[in-house]
Amino acid sequence: MSNVYLETWKPDIFKGKVCLITGGSGTICSKQAEALVILGCSVSILGREQEVVEKKVKELSQIRSDVRVIGYGGCDVRSFQSMSDIVKKTVNELGKIDFLVCGAAGNFLADFNHMSSNAFKTVVDIDLIGSFNAVKACFEQLRANKGSVIFISSTLHYYGVPFQSHVGAAKAGIDALSNALAVEFGPLGVRVNCIAPGPIGDTEGFNKLVPNKRDFARKIPMQRLGSVHDIANATIYLFSDAASFITGTVQVVDGGFWQMGNFN
Ligand code: HXC
Repeated sequence: MSNVYLETWKPDIFKGKVCLITGGSGTICSKQAEALVILGCSVSILGREQEVVEKKVKELSQIRSDVRVIGYGGCDVRSFQSMSDIVKKTVNELGKIDFLVCGAAGNFLADFNHMSSNAFKTVVDIDLIGSFNAVKACFEQLRANKGSVIFISSTLHYYGVPFQSHVGAAKAGIDALSNALAVEFGPLGVRVNCIAPGPIGDTEGFNKLVPNKRDFARKIPMQRLGSVHDIANATIYLFSDAASFITGTVQVVDGGFWQMGNFN
């Protein structure tokens, strides 16, 4: 557990709030969950593997006695029914949902020639349809509580990244979904934003894509790989009142990497 967030943020800025996080036991999203818990937010984390979710719930539960942490394994965001059931259980347990992080994602490297139609569809279903399902299932809660949504996108679709056509297409769709919902939900007082992580070290996705991390860091203007804390800090900011007039943005967190374009 890292208390690094308390160097920047006040400890109770999310006191009394509740956040549901799909993919919440994964590397990036569990750090988002941890940061929110440290700042007083109760969380419900959803993941595929029951054991991994249980372990994460146990860890996060140690952080603050006035915050509740629950989790649901076996969650398949591709199924609206599965999402809807877990949202109902979360509301029964924690009373409400204020914040939603749509973080569940699937990824593998495959060139077009070796990617079946079902493989492409699988990633689009998890990343894009899964994000839609999460918002759909939480919508009444978000509307009632004037909540806030953060989608997790990427920078892969800003250029052509080989072996990632499925993920790039899905993430481009997430950006589009986020923009449209920000406009539709604005009058309801519900903010919708996206975080687009760039090269974040020690994540499953990045490890698959880039084996030689030290050389890669030199290509990034900020001269380092991103960390999961960078994504967590962006999450805190976007959910906080400091961002109360911010909706419909894609917050890129990549140390300036994609701005380098062809210079890399
Ligand atoms: C080619 C593959 C494949 C591979 C699966 N498939 N892995 N094709 N290369 N390596 C194909 C299968 O053959 C099948 O098609 C179809 O995909 C569905 O596969 P299943 O195994 O049945 O799907 P499922 O059990 O639902 O598993 C979902 C998955 C899984 C996405 C395929 O691999 C997964 O969850 N991976 C790990 C999760 C992960 O990487 N998370 C980190 C995300 S990071 P056929 O035609 O045979 O039926 C991230 C950030 C992106 O997303 C940014 C990166 C920098």
